[in-house]
Amino acid sequence: MDKLVSSWYKDQSLPESYIFPPHERPGKLLVPRCNTVPVIDLGDTRTNLVHQILKASQEFGLFQVVNHGVPPNIMSETMSVFHKFFELPAEDKASLTVHTNDPKRCKLVTSTLDYDREKIHLWRDVLRHPCHPDCIEFWPQKPLRYREVVAACSIEAKKLGLQILELLCEGVGIEHGYFEHELTEDLLLGANHYPPCPDPSLTIGIPKHFDPDILTILLQEHISGLQVLKDGEWIGVKPIPNAFVVNIGYILQVISNNKLKGAEHRVVTNSSDHRISVVFCMNPAGDSNIEPAKSVVTATNPPLCRGFQFKEFMDNFYSMDGDADLALQPFKL
Ligand code: OGA
Ligand code: NI
Repeated sequence: MDKLVSSWYKDQSLPESYIFPPHERPGKLLVPRCNTVPVIDLGDTRTNLVHQILKASQEFGLFQVVNHGVPPNIMSETMSVFHKFFELPAEDKASLTVHTNDPKRCKLVTSTLDYDREKIHLWRDVLRHPCHPDCIEFWPQKPLRYREVVAACSIEAKKLGLQILELLCEGVGIEHGYFEHELTEDLLLGANHYPPCPDPSLTIGIPKHFDPDILTILLQEHISGLQVLKDGEWIGVKPIPNAFVVNIGYILQVISNNKLKGAEHRVVTNSSDHRISVVFCMNPAGDSNIEPAKSVVTATNPPLCRGFQFKEFMDNFYSMDGDADLALQPFKL
């Protein structure tokens, strides 16, 4: 693995190995911050919520939630812990950057896990780890309150995710509690750090992708960067104080038999500010069976794929360089 981008980005021009091909570059045209991504007030009546969340998930695959009940201090402390984490001196982070295949351990990498094999690098560093209580002993010990704060936030994120999944179940007609156990057993945290970039028009923080999970709950600050693809156009997801961004994952799209839409999204960089985002990915257990829910399959809406184990899909996902559509191909009917 190479050095974290945050350790060398200052006073450098953009290295060749970070320049994306023209059709993948953000280009000079800054995407306007946009108010069209739905913002859902979770304090609304249940009937309205079911309707709004379903509509947003079908049209955008992504929306923001406010009035969600997660205490604002937990959100701000989490962001503050990650700012402190990414500012730690290199020697404090060194033990987390060692290569390990142990899925319980933390991994701090630059670009992607595939740095050595990839042709073009991403302008970001990322810390990943599972949130399960059994894994907390492997979490960073610095900054001091990391474990306490991140544990509290991950509990809230999972609660919020399950609440949203219940509303979606009601909306699409999947039975109550469908996602409660195995299908959301593994909560994974990813903390992205995008340092100021010498040329945001040529490179990218994360290129266009679907999250290969059920649902992603994302925490960001006031710095823009996240964009969602809607009808062939990139739309900026405007940061809103104390909101969470919610992404429909590719696996939820599969389970809903395409009634819900996974959000294709990407992250662009900027030249002046550090941007940090924290994603909580609700993942199925590796051996859980994924298939279109029986209740959404009908004669006129036949299943789009056969059942498969989540880990089979993920093996394909990695070997297909993160292309979810290709990863699903072998299971399609
Ligand atoms: C991701 C992702 C968005 C962001 O980590 O998969 O899409 O705003 N992150 O950092
Ligand atoms: Ni993503």
